[in-house]
Amino acid sequence: MAGVNGGLVLGRTAVVTGAAQGIGLAIARILYEHGANVVVTDQDAALAVTAAEGLGGGESVSSLGCDVTDEEAVTAAVGHAVDRFGRLDILVNNAGITRDATMGKMTVADFEAVVDVHLKGTWLGVRAAAEVMRQARSGSIINISSLSGKSGNFGQTNYSAAKAGIVGLTKAAAKELAGRGVRVNAVQPGLIRTAMTAAMPPDVFAAREADIPMKRAGEPYEVAGAVLFLASDLSSYMTGTVLEVGGGRMM
Ligand SMILES: NC(=O)c1ccc[n+]([C@@H]2O[C@H](COP(=O)([O-])OP(=O)(O)OC[C@H]3O[C@@H](n4cnc5c(N)ncnc54)[C@H](O)[C@@H]3O)[C@@H](O)[C@H]2O)c1
Repeated sequence: MAGVNGGLVLGRTAVVTGAAQGIGLAIARILYEHGANVVVTDQDAALAVTAAEGLGGGESVSSLGCDVTDEEAVTAAVGHAVDRFGRLDILVNNAGITRDATMGKMTVADFEAVVDVHLKGTWLGVRAAAEVMRQARSGSIINISSLSGKSGNFGQTNYSAAKAGIVGLTKAAAKELAGRGVRVNAVQPGLIRTAMTAAMPPDVFAAREADIPMKRAGEPYEVAGAVLFLASDLSSYMTGTVLEVGGGRMM
């Protein structure tokens, strides 16, 4: 299977966090289909195994339980990629959660949980991958932000703050690593059809869709395409950028 569709990341090794389902799984799939060795990581280790088996990648796909808020687990995921495949070329910080509530109802625990997974988790991933990539003098790190971090969403003060923070983190890390041949970019998806958005009340989902110039939610593979571009040499002169994948929302 490796090398089909032109093999844009042929022979590279990728780690994707939160990859057991949704956008992360679509990212793992497209990287695999374009020739990469892929480590499917997720805090739900059993689901990560099933997801990796579903890719059907045999020797070029591996899975690992990894909670991105756990420093040791994140370091271990990077180490696993190097041990198993001999290198780390691509890291996608995708794991995410929501704990939506208006500020009157949001607890400190809701705020901390979301900031921990998105912001601390992404920072831990960038730091661990950078350690390996700067020695190799090459690599591409892609952080999954959200248009919520650009516009701010009602009921998402925690999530919007974390996703905006990921943009700042991406740019700062890009500046630190540019001279070492390591690129760091972010993707801001809009409304994408996954388990995360299936939790929204149907009328709210429909209203959000109606607001999108393309008049529909996106599919996980449509985010994965932007990630593949940033992971590959097609984007070799891009770092510190934010790609919006939102059907024209917030332009
Ligand atoms: N779905 C959307 O509309 C949308 C829009 C913009 C951004 N995003 C972002 O895209 C990413 C993927 O979202 P999704 O819609 O596929 O969500 P999802 O809920 O379908 O999948 C998220 C995955 O992350 C894993 N995860 C959660 N906490 C984790 C942790 N601490 N460590 C490791 N893994 C963990 C979950 O087990 C799950 O497999 C998230 O960062 C999300 O914020 C989603």
